[in-house]
Amino acid sequence: PVPVVAIDGPSASGKGTVGALVARILGFEHLDSGALYRIVALAALRKGVALDDETSLASIAAALPARFEDGLVLLDGDDVTEAIRSEACSVGASRVAVLPAVRDALFWRQRSYRTGSGLVAEGRDMGSVIFPDAGVKIFLTASVEARAERRYKQLIDKGMAAKMDDLLKDLYERDARDSQRAVAPLKRGDDAVLLDTSGITVQQAVDFVIERASS
Ligand code: CDP
Repeated sequence: PVPVVAIDGPSASGKGTVGALVARILGFEHLDSGALYRIVALAALRKGVALDDETSLASIAAALPARFEDGLVLLDGDDVTEAIRSEACSVGASRVAVLPAVRDALFWRQRSYRTGSGLVAEGRDMGSVIFPDAGVKIFLTASVEARAERRYKQLIDKGMAAKMDDLLKDLYERDARDSQRAVAPLKRGDDAVLLDTSGITVQQAVDFVIERASS
């Protein structure tokens, strides 16, 4: 079977940066599963669908007209790369992600990324639900302060508005929602290797994952 490197962990733990670099180095496909939940939230917000309307949200997720192309995220052909990173979409994604019908609707789509010479899949349930047979499972984490600082820097670098207090509050709320939900809660599985990125560089985190993927 096509090898899978599953990277799960809380918000702003470094999954995106580390996952993209590892995929590039290994020549693997890259699945940012969080982006799918973010796109569902954005599509719902644009259509005026309530973020707890499970049936309508599942239909949106099942027929999601989304594509990832040349580093861009397209929804209905519209470039939403930046839009899905807004705080509204972060919160929206974690709200639609508690709904089992939404998660089910995205299941096969996520599995379809397992092609070519390998896949680096990042999210909350890559190693536990979507790719339980992944050869490498990493649980990436970092202190809440380190994560809030990273998110702050990311938003400011993109010219977007950011307030540290709001970001910390959002991280706590999202962590709580992601880890307390009934379906696919965020937690480190016994078979996942813990990597705390609070005090290490991106390069060190990348090396750690590559070493495991190559052994
Ligand atoms: O970038 P950040 O880590 O803050 O979030 P993300 O990975 O883009 O995911 C956004 C939200 O989608 C998370 O807060 C989760 O609630 C949800 N999600 C999920 O439930 N399962 C996944 N595999 C990926 C994301």
